[in-house]
Amino acid sequence: MGHDRFQQPAGAALRSHQKTVAGLHLGDLLTDVDRPASMTLAAGPLTVDFSRMLGDPTTLHLLADLAAELDVPRQLAAMASGAPVNTTEGRAALHTALRASATPPILVAGQDVLPDVARTAARVSDFVEAVATGARPGSSGTRITDVIFIGIGGSDLGPRMVAAATRQHHTRQVLAHFIANVDPAELDAVLPRLDPSTTLVVVISKTFTTVETLANAAAARAWLVEGVGETALSHHLAAVTTAIDQAAAFGVPADAVFGFHDWVGGRFSLSSAVGIGIEFAIGRTGMRALREGMRAVDTALLDDPAPQNAALLLGMLDVWYAQYFRAVSKVVVPYSQDLALLPSHLQQLQMESNGKSVTADGDPVSWPTSPVVWGAPGTNGQHAFFQLLHQGTHLVPVDLIGIRSTIGNERAELLQANLLAQAAALALGRTASALETAGVDPALVPHKVMPGNRPSTLIWLPDLSPHSVGALIALYEHATAAAGFAWGVDPFDQWGVERGKELASALLPAVTGGPVPHGTDAATVASLAYLRGY
Ligand code: F6P
Repeated sequence: MGHDRFQQPAGAALRSHQKTVAGLHLGDLLTDVDRPASMTLAAGPLTVDFSRMLGDPTTLHLLADLAAELDVPRQLAAMASGAPVNTTEGRAALHTALRASATPPILVAGQDVLPDVARTAARVSDFVEAVATGARPGSSGTRITDVIFIGIGGSDLGPRMVAAATRQHHTRQVLAHFIANVDPAELDAVLPRLDPSTTLVVVISKTFTTVETLANAAAARAWLVEGVGETALSHHLAAVTTAIDQAAAFGVPADAVFGFHDWVGGRFSLSSAVGIGIEFAIGRTGMRALREGMRAVDTALLDDPAPQNAALLLGMLDVWYAQYFRAVSKVVVPYSQDLALLPSHLQQLQMESNGKSVTADGDPVSWPTSPVVWGAPGTNGQHAFFQLLHQGTHLVPVDLIGIRSTIGNERAELLQANLLAQAAALALGRTASALETAGVDPALVPHKVMPGNRPSTLIWLPDLSPHSVGALIALYEHATAAAGFAWGVDPFDQWGVERGKELASALLPAVTGGPVPHGTDAATVASLAYLRGY
């Protein structure tokens, strides 16, 4: 399906439907008391309220039809079955296997992957428990008190975010320190505060080639050697990687290396051994609950018919707003400080998956793909960018995340009131006549008019338990894959990040005073000159 990807019957039907929707206003639509119930869906423990979207129940059905026309449900099922849906790398994308029940088998290259997944998960749990309880002490025999997790991208963002989100469920046995940036400011702010003899360093890298991670790992290793000596190093190192030999060469003992398969994409990997930092935070039971929450949404994805499939429709909504409303960004606003890192995780999950301009077959797209994903927690965002959301010239769909269990605390109730108020203000706006009726100074009326009809999706979690947080992550994993399949891209590769890595390696000698590579562009030459002070 080439350039006419969205001109087929379902796409064309949506285009004409959009013309009808464009003439509607949420202020009118939300007078219908039956609308919320007819546009709210469940996904595991989550409640996904689409009633403030641009459109109506017919829109959701037409989006489901478009998904079917673009073969999205079949590709999602193929993904969960172990088919090589990561077409440019010839791999499966089997993150669902990481939290699947032991049966039925899931085959990759004719081999059931589930026994190995279970073995690795058990090894990680046993290791974490042994370290956290002191059964596996540091080289001096003293219990490990601090664990440094060194990784970046998918080897950091998801685990760091889930560890923060599940704060109220931490076992508090060790202190976790997540390090990602190669900027010394991050690691060097942590090391001086820790005692090497009671510190474990975990290097997390799918490839064990990411230069930022290797540079930080080398610095942490040197710090350990200085503190406990080379011979004691093995008591203070662990690794999570597909490159087992590289980890061994780094000095990690075999029983502290935890592998995972190349069919686990970095940004989809937090339910694998990459989530070891989560398990240090919430323990074996918490990690099991996280995976159970993810599995509940995996099941809903595969079982729920498209018009009632929350994850599928959440992804198709990105297509709806990008294709039919030309929205170029969307904002994620969790009304929970513990979910403050969710936007950062979703930036990689969604933009590294779908920020592409050729299809999986290599043909240039003639349609928009991933929106720019950004966000910050509420209520902070209200004092930063909500002015633009309410009165700006851009349509920016909003994903709102609400946590139901925070009632009972006066400030938490204020948080909830703000969540609902913002959703209403975005949808309803405020007309000039309403302002005049309210007696607003006529000179100010034009400045206070709010157009409204600004759409949002409200995703409710019952609480911030590992189970609920896991469900939220899986919801977005599947929405991302669904949108990617709809756009016809490969949601699981990331060729666009390779060139920057190559250029950085080529320029490093010039930054440190060596010759500037021949053919370097003028701006880089000038910047190098400035950097080097001449
Ligand atoms: O951002 C590019 C990327 O390859 C991500 O896909 C990945 O999560 C990250 O770098 C880290 O890669 P690794 O886990 O191999 O160090």
